[in-house]
Amino acid sequence: MKTIIEPFRIKMTEALPLTARGDREACLAEAGHNVFLLDADRVTIDLLTDSGTGAMSDRQWAAMIRGDESYAGSSSWRAFERTVREITGFRHIFPTHQGRAAERILAATRLRAGDVVPNNGHFDTTRANIEYVGAQAVNLPCEASRDLHAPTLFKGNMDVAALERLLDSESGEHVPFCMITVTNNSGGGQPVSLENIRAVRSVLDRHGKPLIIDACRFAENAFFIHENEPGQARNSLLEIAQEMFSLADGATMSAKKDGLANIGGFLACHDDGWADEFRNLLILTEGFPTYGGLAGRDLEAIAVGLMEALDPDYQRYRHATVEYVAGALTALGVPIVQPAGGHAVFLDAAAFCPHLAPRDYPGIGLVNALYVEGGVRAVELGSVMFGARGADGSETPAPHELVRLAFPRRVYTQSHFDYVVETIAMVHRARDAIRPHRIIRQAPFLRHFTARFGPA
Ligand code: F0G
Repeated sequence: MKTIIEPFRIKMTEALPLTARGDREACLAEAGHNVFLLDADRVTIDLLTDSGTGAMSDRQWAAMIRGDESYAGSSSWRAFERTVREITGFRHIFPTHQGRAAERILAATRLRAGDVVPNNGHFDTTRANIEYVGAQAVNLPCEASRDLHAPTLFKGNMDVAALERLLDSESGEHVPFCMITVTNNSGGGQPVSLENIRAVRSVLDRHGKPLIIDACRFAENAFFIHENEPGQARNSLLEIAQEMFSLADGATMSAKKDGLANIGGFLACHDDGWADEFRNLLILTEGFPTYGGLAGRDLEAIAVGLMEALDPDYQRYRHATVEYVAGALTALGVPIVQPAGGHAVFLDAAAFCPHLAPRDYPGIGLVNALYVEGGVRAVELGSVMFGARGADGSETPAPHELVRLAFPRRVYTQSHFDYVVETIAMVHRARDAIRPHRIIRQAPFLRHFTARFGPA
């Protein structure tokens, strides 16, 4: 069959808020023109994030009923630990309440002021946790990623030569570990090949440096490898994931993505010394090491969800959905990052709004227009989220002005996505009307969450 169907049917429904344009304009003004500050019951199709927004399966809900809420050594923890160990092979596994808690523990224990952490693309929370302890987060995306529109495979790869140069330079001795993010969320949800991870690993081995995988979307990455990397089609997604993790010394994970859960995460490593430090800080801020800030039922949901994410039928449907939207937008002449990512379609807001400069925050203008037009909530990944700010208040724009339409897992149907495409098409036709924005109020870091905007 050519038609790839949702490999599930719907057992429970949740009403979608349908709102009028005037209502949406008023809500947006009240929210300081920042869609993060909207009430969700004013949003019709919510593509703000794929994080924690997925629909759980009946098997996950059934497992949650079994949740063992014992403070220490619960059977739910054992189920979680068994599954995470089967997939990752790590010796030490620590549950955390979400990905950034794992990042914070890693940064607080392994980094000092002045350290440098390379990554193919740090996500905002990873960068913020690294900078919070006075270290520097450096992005080393591969050359091919600079061209947003070239449909090159594995554009999430790290620039291995740049990593080598960094490690050979004076900064090299200040690199305590290297990270690699699968898939590269801030770079368009693009995958990283096994070949690239192996090449990174061998450079790091030569310099005696450990590798940490930011594994949020490890199963989507495994599917890209399965489909596109020579020789990998014969391996299962689980085997590919196992090989990815076998190349690393540790991992941070947000189970809100490929854990198919609404909350949770983990930190994992092989090294006993690292594990002692992780455990001590975990107990101080997250909880006892067998629950780490999660309820037993959350651990159960994640244990089931991690394996469901490695189901090839699920991944085939998920990737087909993203490609369906990407294909429809491309046919309409809407500029998007090519190829489509694993969890999202990224609009190129700079190309979408050629009349706006980076300092006009074209991504914010586009996000707001999508909300007013159709009640669709997207997110800016441009100069508001990633622009660098100097001590004197000056700003260096981000390399790209992107708007992400993230796809919650197993939530929306094809007709919902047809509606999204129609909304984008209407905004695209009237794109000259997208307005510049200015920041009226902002926080010192992670400003995109709470900033308030006004017209320029
Ligand atoms: N790393 C990556 C690559 C991420 O995409 C995220 C979260 C995190 C780490 C942090 O995980 O949210 O569980 O603390 N990304 C979400 C997003 C928020 O919308 O892309 P968390």
